[in-house]
Amino acid sequence: WALMVTGRTPTNIAVIKYWGKRDETLILPINDSISVTLDPDHLCTTTTVSVSPSFDQDRMWLNGKEISLSVGEFQSCLREIRSRATDFEDKKKGIKITKDDWQKLHLHIASYNNFPTAAGLASSAAGLACLVFSLAKLMNVKEDYGQLSAIARQGSGSACRSLYGGFVKWIMGKEGDGSDSIAVQLADENHWDELVIIIAVVSARQKETSSTSGMRDTVETSLLIQHRAPKRIIQMEDAIKNRDFPSFARLACADSNQFHAVCLDTYPPIFYMNDTSHRIISCVEKWNRAEGTPQVAYTFDAGPNAVLVARNRKTAALLLQRLLFHFPPQSDTNLDSYVIGDKTI
Ligand code: DP6
Repeated sequence: WALMVTGRTPTNIAVIKYWGKRDETLILPINDSISVTLDPDHLCTTTTVSVSPSFDQDRMWLNGKEISLSVGEFQSCLREIRSRATDFEDKKKGIKITKDDWQKLHLHIASYNNFPTAAGLASSAAGLACLVFSLAKLMNVKEDYGQLSAIARQGSGSACRSLYGGFVKWIMGKEGDGSDSIAVQLADENHWDELVIIIAVVSARQKETSSTSGMRDTVETSLLIQHRAPKRIIQMEDAIKNRDFPSFARLACADSNQFHAVCLDTYPPIFYMNDTSHRIISCVEKWNRAEGTPQVAYTFDAGPNAVLVARNRKTAALLLQRLLFHFPPQSDTNLDSYVIGDKTI
């Protein structure tokens, strides 16, 4: 026999960025962060986890290619979930698995991303969140979402925010064991559904500096990192609560720019954005200034791709027109394509 569970998890985009760890093993951050979870139809990971007495070892495939499960991130998540497995019984199929059986049985895991892996589109967030969620379902884990988020966090920090839809806050926590470093939902996916997200894929290539090593260098060498403003978290929570787009946009853009300034202040300096990214920023800033109030927000993660948030559908259509005019895909502007999240949040 074999038991199987399939889960689907969208990626999330931070509007107040997580950058820097106070504990690298448990993945405990040095600041709170806030993100928006995308609609699962667009950028998501689908993961099938199965268990069978005929499997002789744990194995995993990513986009059809076998990958090693021995890396620390996977091992932490597997260990944490296994330790919380509970008895399972399917009388019809005559399957009974006890808590102790789960420790011995092996797993096969197949995961697919419908977007480029490790290109700064938060693939690790969707991937690890989906893995933890699917395994928890398979092994009959009874923990709530907050506790599951703390497990996903140990796979990749940003993954803890992908367990919820809508707007999510990852509370950095104070405890040494990470028990209070969990994600909570600030507002669900229906709260502010006129927002539309467009992702301009400047480059689908894998990023040169991984978030993990970039963060380590920043914490060790940047002086600017101490000046990241914790006040922004409260202001962003208010902007989301009140659906205040001008404040939301100002805070998201400022935080993205501050994050990239911190990267530049790191030794050796980290450049995630390129010329095309900078031109997109100028284009949005000019438009927002001309309108007198922000219409579009931009944010860039650990890569050159632009995540653009339009205040409504009408603005999104105009934005797309402008982008296509200034940055035609596959031209020398080096823009690969656009991913448009309709009713994204
Ligand atoms: C810039 O979550 O990928 O996207 O915890 O080392 O796996 P690890 O890093 P990761 O870092 C994401 C950084 C970011 C900002 C964010 O998503 O908050």
